[in-house]
Amino acid sequence: MKNASAPVTHYRKDYLPPDFLIETVKLKFELDPNATLVSSELMLRRNPQSDGLAQKLFLNGEGLTLKAIFIDDEELTEKDYDIDESGLTLNRVSDRFVLKTCVEIDPANNAALEGLYVSGDKFCTQCEAEGFRKITFYMDRPDVLAEFFVRIEADKTQYPLLLSNGNKLDSGDLSENKHYTEWHDPFLKPCYLFALVAGDLDLLADEFVTHSGRKIALELYVDKGKLDQSQFAMESLKNAMAWDEKRYNLEYDLDLYMIVAVGDFNMGAMENKGLNIFNTKYVLANPATGTDQDFENIESVIGHEYFHNWTGNRVTCRDWFQLSLKEGLTVFRDQQFTEDMRSKAVKRIDDVKVIRSYQFAEDAGPMAHPIRPDAYIEMNNFYTVTVYNKGAEVIRMLHTLLGEEGFQKGMSLYFKRHDGSAATCDDFVAAMSDANQFNLDQFKYWYSQAGTPTLRVDYDYDESNQCLKLHFSQNNAHESASEPYFIPVKLGLVGTKGNQVSFSSAEFGLTNVEEGLIIVTQPNQTVNLEGVSEEVIPSLLRDFTAPVKLDINYSDQQLAYLFANDGNTFNRWDAGQRLMQRFLIDEEDSIKESIAEAFRALLNDQSIDNAFKARCVQIPDLKTLFENDPNGRIDSLIERRKTLKKFLGIALEDTWSRLYNQLHRASDLDLDGVSVANRALKNASLDYMAFSSEQHEAIVIKQFEDAKLMTEELSAFSIANHHELEVASKITQAFYDKWHSEPLVMDKWLAIQASVDSLDTLNRIQTLRHDRVFNIKNPNKVRALFSTFAALNFSQFHRIDGAGYRLIAEAIIEIDEFNNQVAANLAKQFSSAAKLDDARKMHVQQQLKKVIDKENLSKDVFEVVSKTLESIE
Ligand code: TRP
Ligand code: ZN
Repeated sequence: MKNASAPVTHYRKDYLPPDFLIETVKLKFELDPNATLVSSELMLRRNPQSDGLAQKLFLNGEGLTLKAIFIDDEELTEKDYDIDESGLTLNRVSDRFVLKTCVEIDPANNAALEGLYVSGDKFCTQCEAEGFRKITFYMDRPDVLAEFFVRIEADKTQYPLLLSNGNKLDSGDLSENKHYTEWHDPFLKPCYLFALVAGDLDLLADEFVTHSGRKIALELYVDKGKLDQSQFAMESLKNAMAWDEKRYNLEYDLDLYMIVAVGDFNMGAMENKGLNIFNTKYVLANPATGTDQDFENIESVIGHEYFHNWTGNRVTCRDWFQLSLKEGLTVFRDQQFTEDMRSKAVKRIDDVKVIRSYQFAEDAGPMAHPIRPDAYIEMNNFYTVTVYNKGAEVIRMLHTLLGEEGFQKGMSLYFKRHDGSAATCDDFVAAMSDANQFNLDQFKYWYSQAGTPTLRVDYDYDESNQCLKLHFSQNNAHESASEPYFIPVKLGLVGTKGNQVSFSSAEFGLTNVEEGLIIVTQPNQTVNLEGVSEEVIPSLLRDFTAPVKLDINYSDQQLAYLFANDGNTFNRWDAGQRLMQRFLIDEEDSIKESIAEAFRALLNDQSIDNAFKARCVQIPDLKTLFENDPNGRIDSLIERRKTLKKFLGIALEDTWSRLYNQLHRASDLDLDGVSVANRALKNASLDYMAFSSEQHEAIVIKQFEDAKLMTEELSAFSIANHHELEVASKITQAFYDKWHSEPLVMDKWLAIQASVDSLDTLNRIQTLRHDRVFNIKNPNKVRALFSTFAALNFSQFHRIDGAGYRLIAEAIIEIDEFNNQVAANLAKQFSSAAKLDDARKMHVQQQLKKVIDKENLSKDVFEVVSKTLESIE
């Protein structure tokens, strides 16, 4: 970091309530791409909860050109205030006053995509976490809640549509072909939920009638010509609204709900009150352009942002350390939504895969933090899988412990206590605890300690007493974790004839059950299960009831047995994954026969659903394997994974081609669960067939040419590339010719090419980044090409000559010039560097030193890279 002052670390323990509150905000926007005027009128008053002593007031503001400033209608002179690069200090303030400011900003040159910016031909905003300060001077913190009034003025031809939060109060024409709209949001909100959109967009309009009979207008705005890709998102919104009423008894509060899709967006979507702004990736899809996975993602993100209206907006966060209060809870709610809409067991598998690959790695790396972090340099770096997904696991544990009814009682109390205000994680846990008379003191270590605990289990069976003893020990290597966790463990017992054996536990109130919940609270703890009538294999941590690593010494035979017989679907899948790791990590060569045999049995079982089968035949990904391998042996993992896949392809040759022929229906255009499941298993089969079937290439070509669904077309395209079929370049070109004007489809086209395990991929990426469909200013494109390469292309990112690392380091340096958030996210791709071998570590170090020496490096990238470098020194 040259030139810049040393970055400041913010600590959770330093929280102080604000000295002033803002009662109402009146904003006027005179929109112009290069010179927008923002006039603001803030009604400020001293916070009765502050010490009352402050004589000065600081307001955040960055990159603003001040045009005018008044207090109580008196223009200020130079001595009345100071301005620096972080904001405005008012040197003398009374207990109650009106501050008026006018600033000028330049949205067209805002490539950071934070604050007010231009995407395509439209204006839009992104204010979370701390982007509002790039729009006007304000107390940019989530515990300052205000009532917003917004007036927007702009050219009528270019920007026929002028939107902001809440209800539209007024609109009309102005001189010089301009017009205006006025908006009022009756719900108090922090400024990170502010939104504005202006442009010329197509509208899909609909309506939802709430359970109390109120009519809500639903408006989905997309770029001109994209209405044929907007219906599914609208259906998802209506489903989400109905679901939240049914499962949580939560009703929408405004009369209007708007969603706008924009092509340039740093994250997935944003829950601004009444006016969500979405990445097009989570709105636009029809069966020809979007895959089955895209549809599931859209449904889930639409749900997520909608659910924030209560968990995030009506009750918001006191400070950004509490981010998991809204994100962990809302991810949990969107996961439940998908479970209820689709398959519960399969959704659980997909969610756990994210935890085990990305979250466990984050928890073991240089950026490890508790779900409620204690410190940050740049808040944007803490929108992480830990805060979001581990946060959701922590909420899920509460749900497991309290049951649906108890959990809902806790939610009601939470809303009763905190509606309309800013709360903390402690407040949430207190509501859950008080509503259920359930002591959660020890449970709270899940909020304060980082790292993944290992839960080790040994067991022995005493036949004469029909007693199974389970010996648990928990262990957490992370420095922040000195206290034992409160760990819910759902379990069952599998007998020798595939039967589920019942058991009792006086300690945990279980009598003759086939499945039950016990709680591990001690560093070492023995649990006695009574009435166990026969020798069994314990099936533990069913449905992954806690985000821990379960360490239990099953024999290969026992694993294969559980894979075939466990009464819990999730654990069945898990046994299969563990079995494969015996080959991949433990290097047990002989086990591949039993894997093939287990696959054959599973695939021939007519009673099992195809979505589950498709998950089971997926070999653990390299990210998970690397995380699980104590020695992080990249080359060996890559080699062994290829070997296993090829072996299974050949050993089950007949099964794969039989499945393909059975399930392939070029004419099936349905998006229902059964069709989606059939396609998933069929395309997995086609992938395995590449190792044996002679007609394979012809089948891939035919599937590509006949495809009417993107799922079908993309699978064929992907298989052709990954198996480097002769036809690959032809297919790649044909796909491009067909889709080059659909940016979201081109993202897929880029991502697949970036993930091919071939020495040629680096060159390919150099060519692709100069293709006209690529644009380094667009975050979706950067993610498609660079993040995919670093995250999914193990062999090429970790090239032993360091060229993969260099590619990403240079991209970080280039992108940091204009978009710090995206650059920092890319920098996180180096976070498991400490686990690499010395040669690779040296290359990473060399590249990251180049990054850290860059002039004017952002604090975003500085935080990630400095911590990563520390971890490998
Ligand atoms: N609150 C958003 C969500 O989870 C996340 C988000 C959208 C975000 N845009 C952002 C976070 C920009 C940080 C920066 O739904
Ligand atoms: Zn969210």
